[in-house]
Amino acid sequence: TQEREPERQPHAGRRVALFPLPFQGHLSPMLQLADLLRARGLAVTVLHTRSNAPDPARHRHGPDLAFLPIHEAALPEEATSPGADIVAQLLALNAACEAPFRDALASLLPGVACAVVDGQWYAALGAAARLGNSDECHFVLAESLWIIPAGERLDEAVPELEPLRVRDLIRVDGCETEALCGFIARVADAMRDSASGVVVNTFDAIEASELGKIEAELSKPTFAVGPLHKLTTARTAAEQYRHFVRLYGPDRACLAWLDAHPPRSVLYVSLGSVACIDHDMFDEMAWGLAASGVPFLWVNRPGSVRGCMPALPYGVDVSRGKIVPWAPQRDVLAHPAIGGFWTHCGWNSTLESVCEGVPMLARPCFADQTVNARYVTHQWGVGLELGEVFDRDRVAVAVRKLMVGEEGAAMRETARRLKIQANQCVAATLAIDNLVKYICSL
Ligand code: UDX
Repeated sequence: TQEREPERQPHAGRRVALFPLPFQGHLSPMLQLADLLRARGLAVTVLHTRSNAPDPARHRHGPDLAFLPIHEAALPEEATSPGADIVAQLLALNAACEAPFRDALASLLPGVACAVVDGQWYAALGAAARLGNSDECHFVLAESLWIIPAGERLDEAVPELEPLRVRDLIRVDGCETEALCGFIARVADAMRDSASGVVVNTFDAIEASELGKIEAELSKPTFAVGPLHKLTTARTAAEQYRHFVRLYGPDRACLAWLDAHPPRSVLYVSLGSVACIDHDMFDEMAWGLAASGVPFLWVNRPGSVRGCMPALPYGVDVSRGKIVPWAPQRDVLAHPAIGGFWTHCGWNSTLESVCEGVPMLARPCFADQTVNARYVTHQWGVGLELGEVFDRDRVAVAVRKLMVGEEGAAMRETARRLKIQANQCVAATLAIDNLVKYICSL
């Protein structure tokens, strides 16, 4: 609803192929980008894996929106078994999808102007570039950014990556540093060698210098098109949820529960769609939230605790809280009763919170989340770090500090100002217009 009327340019009929990673946190922004491109007169084909495919009974095809499955082979068991780490899964997905993606994309030629591929699809990016060299079409893009990890002295600053410390660099529990570095190197090489440009879901007010670095290091046009979720209309965002609804269905009744609470009184707690915690941490969270005395809305996603989903610890009083399996997060964060967000700092959650002016309690789990958490707490000043040492007392103290303390109030004020800057970017939508012009010039 916030987007100004987009400029429809004279390129009706040009088609863009989009290839998101099959995870909620990656599907949503890519579908939001699809909406924005369609609103400017481009047609879109979303190529998708069989895993997390759109539900054919729910999604609508039209002349300007099509979905095309790529029929990848089943992943090897070692990449999908419960103990498998996310890097093993991403490597296996890339291997399984390279040829089927190339064949699906080739079947669309010569009618495709450009492909937008998630940055972690390094194999697809290479395949698209090789097809593009056939001169039948050109290929852009790569979404998202990974930074090189490693190091031992955890609290030392990394001067070239200020404000990051060594401990904030990307890591994945259970994954060897060598395997993680290998994966990141493939992503970086594919972007450098195969992409014509970079699309990033962020905006200048929060990452101007980082965007400048990407552009300088890759020597490619870079488009900061975010915050994507604010640029798409409410109506189409609801449709996007329906496309991939088999992922999780939100419990909308929690909004009525929020209606009954005073402004800024409730803490929203969610660790996104992928992160898993262990049983002990779950118990400490429950005890700590209860002890804080602050009302809370807690998303307990099925599968988010390693092993089987535990019951709440015996004797804990959660009468001030509401627990749901999945929430309509964007509506929750925009609700006046929400005063803070305990988040794992996935990029979508971070942006959504920034855009609603909600201060955060940052407790990253893996991958880019540690980087995002450091920006939240030390670069933008809109959050508190919960810390890696985790027990119920620290949880209760941190929750109270954020929700009723002076420090929390100062962060809420900074978050309110950042929200205004995000809204100014939404009103401008210049980057997306520039991206469309660039695609049409290819
Ligand atoms: C993954 C990675 O884990 C993360 O590190 C990376 O930055 C993006 O991809 P995920 O862990 O799912 O993402 O987190 P996040 O990026 O925050 O995305 C979660 C999405 O699910 C958000 O758009 C959020 O609004 C939505 N959500 C989450 C709900 O709609 N309801 C919920 O109850 C929880």
